Amino acid sequence: MSIDAKLAAVDLNDKHLEDGQRTPQAEGATCPVTGLTSSGKTCPFASVGSPENLQEVDEEALRKDINARMVYLKDFVNFTRHDEDAIRHVGPLINDLIPEVVDALYSKLFEFDITKQVFMQRNDGFDGPIPTKLDDLTLDSAQLVYRKVFMKNWCRRLLSSDFSSPKTFTWMDKVGVMHTGVKSFKHRTHVSPLHVPYRDCALTLGWVGTVLQTATLQLPEDKLSMKEKIDSVGAINKILWIQNDLFARHYIDE
Ligand code: HEM
Repeated sequence: MSIDAKLAAVDLNDKHLEDGQRTPQAEGATCPVTGLTSSGKTCPFASVGSPENLQEVDEEALRKDINARMVYLKDFVNFTRHDEDAIRHVGPLINDLIPEVVDALYSKLFEFDITKQVFMQRNDGFDGPIPTKLDDLTLDSAQLVYRKVFMKNWCRRLLSSDFSSPKTFTWMDKVGVMHTGVKSFKHRTHVSPLHVPYRDCALTLGWVGTVLQTATLQLPEDKLSMKEKIDSVGAINKILWIQNDLFARHYIDE
């Protein structure tokens, strides 16, 4: 089935899209790497297609239509209802760690002048004092405290969003765009554009992934079984790579 045909079959008002977005050959396919089949959902690679079922992808639609992109991304990384459930399950269990994760993330960004200096710019909606010298900007500066609220929101939304909804992908896409100097959010139209190199966004996503996945693996067995941990780590990895694409596509001239 072509991506266009799949898109036509997607009811965008339906909150819970089925795995019909996946390749038709996904169920029961054998993974060439592990030899496992997807029927028991044991192998994350098992939806590998076959030459007979080659999908047609409209690259123009991938560039212009976020819904087409969403279908392709989910299909490619094999992000299914099973992954959504895994994220929904682990989200509340690691939610309380988010303030700590965000504090540690900003400490990381403050380790290097090139990532720290981005925070010298006045943030949208912040009208408190801003230091004039990089050395004077500290992690407890008023603007940084304000800034962390947004990052905590992103983490929370990442762990609790409805990944069947195109709205979620539109939001994730806007998060990517806004770092390229283009104003994507209505509430940011009056502020100066933000420019963060893709390099640092991708590194940050990788950093967040390690922290969230480690926190998941460290949960006690009575809260999350080993099987659930494996599912959650895989699902977190997939959604972070999807978010990565929704950054990268705005930097890379495909
Ligand atoms: C995992 C990668 C990243 C994610 C998911 C992310 C997410 C976000 C979000 C959700 C916002 C607020 C959007 C809003 O206004 O509603 C934001 C703003 C911002 N981000 Fe990022 N960000 C990332 C990486 C970075 C990096 C690496 C830097 C700098 C080195 C950075 C600097 C900023 C700044 C300065 C703002 C505030 C702009 C303003 O309010 O004027 N971000 N980011």
